[in-house]
Amino acid sequence: MERSIYEFPAIFRRVHKERPGEIEAEAWFLKKVWRRHLDRPVSRVLDIACGNSPHGQIFARDGIEVAGIDRSATMIAAGRRESRGLGRIRFYRRPIEKFALPERRFDAAIFMSETFPVMTRNADILSHFKSVGRLLRRGAPYCIDVDRQDGPRVARSRQMWRRRTLAVGDAIVEVRAFSRPTPWDSGVHSIFELECNIRFPDRAVVTRDLIPIRYTLPCTLEMAAKASGMFELVAAYADLSFFTPIGECDRRWLGVLRRV
Ligand SMILES: C[S@@+](CC[C@H](N)C(=O)[O-])C[C@H]1O[C@@H](n2cnc3c(N)ncnc32)[C@H](O)[C@@H]1O
Repeated sequence: MERSIYEFPAIFRRVHKERPGEIEAEAWFLKKVWRRHLDRPVSRVLDIACGNSPHGQIFARDGIEVAGIDRSATMIAAGRRESRGLGRIRFYRRPIEKFALPERRFDAAIFMSETFPVMTRNADILSHFKSVGRLLRRGAPYCIDVDRQDGPRVARSRQMWRRRTLAVGDAIVEVRAFSRPTPWDSGVHSIFELECNIRFPDRAVVTRDLIPIRYTLPCTLEMAAKASGMFELVAAYADLSFFTPIGECDRRWLGVLRRV
């Protein structure tokens, strides 16, 4: 049976082309954003689609309490293992589209690693904002990390987009990415099919993930936040900088919403 790359946390990071030190740089920038947009300290953070919560683990080491939600039992298990002894992170298995938690309100929320655009339906985006909004204090910042998207990637049939081979520990990973056709009227920027052939020394595993990506820009995020009645967009920062104009964004941008 084909599996998901999210069952292999160490490999997924390399497949997603995470650069060394990237998570630390993001955590540092998030703290700067909180200082800029909030006039009180952040002591409780909600991490959405947290995976093993690498950002949350950094914050927990700094004394911040973190609760993360994710649907992947494997990613959550990795997070619990890695944060054993830290004591300040709790993981919940929840869908991002609609959820509730037995928690007091948080001072800030984060949604990192360019995953927000996997919510492609208006109803899911609105119920997501309502779920997050109910868990945040008034004025709390909600930071959402999104890839720069250069216009919809139109594919009329399934097409090979790129391929590469990686060595991760003692595994060899052949990565093949395909573009899939998208319905023209869906608001979907692209459908990304990620196939990984992982050869461990003693076994081989094939993973396949279908990742629909909604066209997400600062202006569409602003509209969706407003429509939810829970948030307003207060800033969009390019490439972890307060100074790079958004029009010159090279890789990704961070939308900062405020709980109204
Ligand atoms: C690219 S990983 C990012 C993990 C983490 N935030 C980080 O920065 O390393 C995306 C995560 O989103 C989770 N995810 C994707 N769709 C989801 C959904 N509909 N509900 C809950 N979690 C979801 C996956 O399980 C995965 O752990």
